[in-house]
Amino acid sequence: MVRKSGTEVGRHREGPAPEVLSVMDDRGRQYLLSTRGNVAQIPELGVISTAKLRANLGRKLSIGSRSVIAIPASPRDRMEGLGRKAQTVGPKDAASLLFNAGIAPDAFVVEAGTGSGWLTVALAIAVGPRGRVVTYEEREDFATFARGNLSLADVEKRVEIRGGDIAHGIIEVDVDAVVLDIPEPWTALQVAWEALRIGGTLCAFSPTTEQVRRTVESIRGLPFLGIRTIEIIEREIVIHEGGTRPSFAPLGHTGYLTFARKVLDTF
Ligand SMILES: C[S@@+](CC[C@H](N)C(=O)[O-])C[C@H]1O[C@@H](n2cnc3c(N)ncnc32)[C@H](O)[C@@H]1O
Repeated sequence: MVRKSGTEVGRHREGPAPEVLSVMDDRGRQYLLSTRGNVAQIPELGVISTAKLRANLGRKLSIGSRSVIAIPASPRDRMEGLGRKAQTVGPKDAASLLFNAGIAPDAFVVEAGTGSGWLTVALAIAVGPRGRVVTYEEREDFATFARGNLSLADVEKRVEIRGGDIAHGIIEVDVDAVVLDIPEPWTALQVAWEALRIGGTLCAFSPTTEQVRRTVESIRGLPFLGIRTIEIIEREIVIHEGGTRPSFAPLGHTGYLTFARKVLDTF
């Protein structure tokens, strides 16, 4: 242990107990748990005291005949541990989206559609406790499902879900980023432009090239600069003695990310 002037050098500190934990069992299964209640239910394993989990972060604990280790959930854990309906945006695309759209602490972001709320969780973590995310969802069943996920990920206070079709209008103004994950993003480009601040970023996530082409053609008809479409390819590497290589089960195609910055004039 390294000590300096009698003080331990390092970042270990007694912070507030985490609300959301990632729990891994001895078979490698991972669970996302909220510690708001007195006990947490781990599927197939049973019930465990949340005080015990919080007091023993990083330590092996017994639950029935099995053992688990709990750590504070990372942003990736807080997305992948959520339930989902329909297609979701996962950590691979969310990470790039956040950086390219400049979504940082205190940002004000508008999103559509909410879907299962996976991307909403990533946006809410990125904007932090003083930021704000407003997410439009036209289907009440998805909005209800997403609310449960936002609560489990402990970000519900930063997020407002609005019912209805985003193409009918965005009531927010001076927005730092508008993020569209809807089948027809081109229908919402005009309202997105109106909501954005100058220099604010539009981002559209689309699974197909036909959607991208139509979206980019429509963006070109509005005052936007820096129009750019990318696809993120991620290859996990498996490490085995004498056999380290890319995984045979790569995450295949998910979607394309298109970005553009709002301006007032074009060349
Ligand atoms: C692919 S899902 C979004 C998934 C979400 N990004 C996630 O990570 O969980 C698309 C959602 O957009 C909603 N939607 C489609 N068109 C919309 C529109 N014009 N306005 C608001 N919501 C819309 C759908 O009901 C659906 O829930």
